[in-house]
Amino acid sequence: MKKLIAAGALLTGLSVSSAAFAADCSTDVKKDDLSDEQVQSLYDCIKTELREGYASKGGELTAEYSSWKAASTLPAAPGVHSKRFLFTFVNDIGFDEYVKYSDERGPMPVGSIIAKESFNVSKKGKVKKGPLFFMTKAAAGGEADKYGNWVYAAFSTKGKVMKIKQSFCHDCHKAFEDQDALGYPVEDYRVSGN
Ligand code: HEC
Repeated sequence: MKKLIAAGALLTGLSVSSAAFAADCSTDVKKDDLSDEQVQSLYDCIKTELREGYASKGGELTAEYSSWKAASTLPAAPGVHSKRFLFTFVNDIGFDEYVKYSDERGPMPVGSIIAKESFNVSKKGKVKKGPLFFMTKAAAGGEADKYGNWVYAAFSTKGKVMKIKQSFCHDCHKAFEDQDALGYPVEDYRVSGN
């Protein structure tokens, strides 16, 4: 039932975006030359399909994250995560803390979940959907102790759980040691915390 309502909401979104943007979600502007507005248009064009795909296997988080508050103003391309455009969302438990973007933070509250949508633009100017990434803050005393109490997860564009190694994600994230292993969106696109 929950799923049906979500699908309905997604369909409503679709009719708006497909009227306003090219149906094939492509551009003749080179990826590095895209303006913020052009990135936003491409995102608006694939957004419904992207979210539908992530949510299609019925995963609880994959359906829920898009109702959380966004921590970036626009999908930005920071040159990591395979140079994809990334769009970050944080659940209620973590949002206020996350958007301080502190570089001297203690640990994020247990139960904080951060989600990150991703997409790319091919050489031919076509938008390519990318995986959905999650970091969940666990209580101390478990498996995640080795990884700064973060549990990492990723879902394919079809909503499938991707086999990832916690160490693969954390080996890079732990470089942000003063930020509780968080990379944060590039500065120009951060949602203000107050
Ligand atoms: C090569 C380094 C690198 C690897 C490997 C990496 N990340 Fe990230 N990740 C980053 C950086 C840098 C950011 C911040 C950039 C942004 O969000 O715009 C980030 C951001 C994130 C965020 C948003 C929270 C934050 O840090 O601000 C999530 C969630 C995330 N990554 C999950 C994952 C998962 C899951 C994996 C493993 C499948 C992974 N990452 C692997 C570098 C990496």
